[in-house]
Amino acid sequence: MCGAENTTPLAGRPSDGLTPGLGLYSDPIINLDHGDPTIFKPYWMRSRDQLVVSGSELMSYFSRGGHPCWFMEPDFEKSVKRLHGLVGNAVSEGRYLVVGTGSSQLYLASLYALCSPDQPHPVSVVCAAPYYSSYAEATTFLKSSLFKWEGDANAFDKDGPYIELVTSPNNPDGTTRNPVVDRGGNLIHDLAYYWPHYTPITYCADHDIMLFTLSKCTGHAGTRIGWAIVKNEQVAGRMVKYLELSSIGVSKESQLRAARILGAVCNEIEAPPGPNLKFFDFAKLLLSERWGKLRQAVKRSGLFTVSEFPLAYCLFFREYTGSHPGFVWMTCKDKNLDCSGLLREQRILTRDGRRFGSDASCSRVSMMSKDEEFDVFLERLAKVKPPEKSNACNGLLQL
Ligand SMILES: Cc1ncc(COP(=O)(O)O)c(C=O)c1O
Repeated sequence: MCGAENTTPLAGRPSDGLTPGLGLYSDPIINLDHGDPTIFKPYWMRSRDQLVVSGSELMSYFSRGGHPCWFMEPDFEKSVKRLHGLVGNAVSEGRYLVVGTGSSQLYLASLYALCSPDQPHPVSVVCAAPYYSSYAEATTFLKSSLFKWEGDANAFDKDGPYIELVTSPNNPDGTTRNPVVDRGGNLIHDLAYYWPHYTPITYCADHDIMLFTLSKCTGHAGTRIGWAIVKNEQVAGRMVKYLELSSIGVSKESQLRAARILGAVCNEIEAPPGPNLKFFDFAKLLLSERWGKLRQAVKRSGLFTVSEFPLAYCLFFREYTGSHPGFVWMTCKDKNLDCSGLLREQRILTRDGRRFGSDASCSRVSMMSKDEEFDVFLERLAKVKPPEKSNACNGLLQL
């Protein structure tokens, strides 16, 4: 039978961080390049809640007449607003909510909404480096005549309209960010990580366009749900138009699943303390334990530095807390070294600093993998050695 050799149980199986053909399962490659948030799965395994949808439900394209975001499920909107109200991280009452297929789709919808088809030149899009690598890729891939990726906001000196992306806490380095250009351009605030397990909630954000995603909030990246909180009605309307043109709305099953998940987190926040940790406590503990172990490993290795974060008073936890970002931005002390290359020698895949507008001495490593992968990562980090001078020389001669 044609292709029968590809029908083994392992063939074509998504990698799980394991790459078939390279020491299959005995010495697997650990893929910490992407930010797949499987870290929170143990928490959700506690939940018995199930969403059952019958064949006759959710069949229409439409969710509600008369609402600017006509494909948004009312229960989804209610849960999102409830969660922001309880966490206190963003103003959502009296604002326009737009649901998207992940915040990735809403990023493009925001760009579309902030540009006019009548403008003579594409609007410049900038973000201070190191920036989330997908921005550059998503902004350029369709070669739009509406907007143009111009890279590092710190180096941006062009006149004319611009859009600045402000990711806070930042991916890849976890820092708290403010706009840097400050010449009256439009801002998109990506607050994917502005949740109390990653960073102290120090103020209730109320920016013109704020993007959030279920992927990083609760770890349900596969549900593909994000939301934008928008101040201006016309901008929200244009974002909805983009979603209508690109996918005629957003999966209702996903919206209802998101509503249930966010609703469960809200119910817990409102409930008195019980025997189990609530979601944000659980997630913060997990991440802070990982960061503690990582810092020890980095110290022992002596080859890298990682960011330090100040303590700040968290309005949600009502105590001083640290930051525990979803990624670690590892930098080689020796700026001539290739950080991803060193880690790759130990079969750890990470994302090269150059993809973030930085250099090869830095690399982004996910802190959100499964426990097993994180433990192997630490073991292998201990084995990373700087290249021998003679080897480095050999490498050059082979080029
Ligand atoms: C800063 C930031 N924004 C947006 C996204 C995309 O999220 P989504 O899964 O909702 O498309 C990510 C994913 O890694 C991210 O790190």
